[in-house]
Amino acid sequence: MTGKHLVLIGLMGAGKTTVGLECASRLERAFVDTDDLVTSIANMSVEAIFADGGEPVFRKLEHDVVADVCASPMPLVIACGGGTVVDPESRRALRAAGVVIWLRAPTATLLSRVGDDSGRPLLRDDPEGALERLGRLRELTYEAAAHAEVDTDDLDVPAVVAAVLAAYEAAVA
Ligand code: S3P
Repeated sequence: MTGKHLVLIGLMGAGKTTVGLECASRLERAFVDTDDLVTSIANMSVEAIFADGGEPVFRKLEHDVVADVCASPMPLVIACGGGTVVDPESRRALRAAGVVIWLRAPTATLLSRVGDDSGRPLLRDDPEGALERLGRLRELTYEAAAHAEVDTDDLDVPAVVAAVLAAYEAAVA
């Protein structure tokens, strides 16, 4: 078995957590979600961290969590927060320790998947506008971070999982 982590990146609503959980179960690996690790270390929700210390505090915690999970000797499935790979060090660490797969979808699809989720501070005021803007801003960053990409728009979860696992196997072969 390869020692490389399977790392999922992409915008909010891309399906990283749902797909990651299923990939972990199929690969019989532990699953980690960087948002969950951040909130358990801070003992606060993402929303509360943003409200209390602002985005920089959240990003610092996220950066430290990524360094920790990348160092795990046990290969993991890692679902990143949408902004995790904007940090250059995290991007490098994830690429070096894992196979990074970018889950893509158009804004309308992302919007329908996130619904009216109040736990995502960056989507509070204008979710559609924010997803559109972040998509444009991060496109090149996701591209630079990813070893492979999966267009999820017309696929159901099992099909995305199959495509992700195929991309992972191809990258580690
Ligand atoms: C963020 C995405 C969120 C979470 C935080 C910021 C982003 O994670 O990390 O709200 O900057 O795109 P998900 O992509 O898992 O929703």
